[in-house]
Amino acid sequence: MTVVIDDSPPVPLFVRRSSACPLDPAEEFARLRAEEPVVRVTLSTGASAWLVTRYADARRVVADQWRFSSRAVVDGPIPPPEPPGGFPPPRPGFFSTYAPREHARLRRMLNAEFGARRLRALRPRVEVVADERMAAMRRSGPGADLIADFALPVPARIFLELLGIPEPDREHLRRNADVLLDFTPRPLEQAVAFAELDTYLSAFVSRCRRDPGDGDGLVGRLISSYGADLSDDELAGIAAQLLLAGYATTTGTIGLGALLLLRHPDQAAALRDGSADVDRAVEEMLRHLSVVSFGKVFTAEEDVTVGGQEIRAGEYVLCSLPSANRDAVLGPDADRFDITREPLPHLAFGHGARYCLGAELARLELRVCVPRLLNRFPGLRLDVPFEELRFTPMNAAYSLESLPVSW
Ligand code: HEM
Repeated sequence: MTVVIDDSPPVPLFVRRSSACPLDPAEEFARLRAEEPVVRVTLSTGASAWLVTRYADARRVVADQWRFSSRAVVDGPIPPPEPPGGFPPPRPGFFSTYAPREHARLRRMLNAEFGARRLRALRPRVEVVADERMAAMRRSGPGADLIADFALPVPARIFLELLGIPEPDREHLRRNADVLLDFTPRPLEQAVAFAELDTYLSAFVSRCRRDPGDGDGLVGRLISSYGADLSDDELAGIAAQLLLAGYATTTGTIGLGALLLLRHPDQAAALRDGSADVDRAVEEMLRHLSVVSFGKVFTAEEDVTVGGQEIRAGEYVLCSLPSANRDAVLGPDADRFDITREPLPHLAFGHGARYCLGAELARLELRVCVPRLLNRFPGLRLDVPFEELRFTPMNAAYSLESLPVSW
């Protein structure tokens, strides 16, 4: 279940989008950037945090691993209050919560998996999967739900194949991941989903250790290259962290990006006739939509001043990436969606040592999916009034519940 903007209880500021146009950040952010760039917010657990809204401040916070750690273990989008005995140790393998040196150690092991060579080899597969999904849409059309029929299955399939998860297990695993990626508090369901995910991935890692035949995917390759340096717990944690980060964000960007282009038919036409550059368009979509509303919950490791605000050691800090990416320091018309512009230096993937591991994979999927969709369906149009669409601000990745289209 996801939260609907109009009739839900107030959506927390740090995930809020505009009620006039949910493709934009909430209107409050423009005022906050101008007048009160670092503001107190209350997390749904009752804990308070500082929300950073300007580009330069947010860039500094997300990039500074030493002063702003990611050690607060956050199981859902709504961060927990500070536990009485201090933070628990990071869950093995959840490297984004590791201290800088350990984090760097795991990033070194993983970087090649998402580097240019592997992605070049992956491109034909992304094309085949996207084409298969569009052929299925055509067969059952002339209408489809662009989320359930395209934006979700393409990146999910690519990512589960990449991890090496056998076909019969994929759907169940993905459903558990979807429960964990919805921040609406449902503790029991989420605990069950996490336990199932953990049990499955632990058994999967054991199988990959025992049987090299099971090691075709990323987990198997990690065992071949670094098996002696990684415990099974750590490998299962890495797989879980990757699964939770590896497709929903791309789903949101493909779905909302398609919607954005339906609302800017001139720009969609320029992509169709080849007069607009696909790479630029994708970069602008990433910036404009910023589907990750706040990257992480950081903990200040020392007293520090950000945007004129004193932040005390131990306090939580969140950065609004959609707000930062619309800051006028990027350009006077940063609020405008314009696929022809020279790409602006956005924070949609974060910045620095914790920069998104899968940024190039996401770009590849978007560069394949968006123009193909437009070209394969020249008459693509929204099948319900825009006002009836339901968005998902409470999900780890902003998206739509569904996107009914016809052609
Ligand atoms: C449009 C798609 C995506 C967006 C917008 C996105 C966004 C982000 C952002 C903002 C962060 C940084 C969080 C922070 O430090 O505050 C991040 C980190 C991360 N992303 Fe992505 N991401 C996308 C796709 C992917 C994909 C396809 C993967 C697959 C591997 C992935 C894996 C990760 C991982 C593992 C991290 C943690 C990096 C670390 O802490 O070292 N992401 N992503």
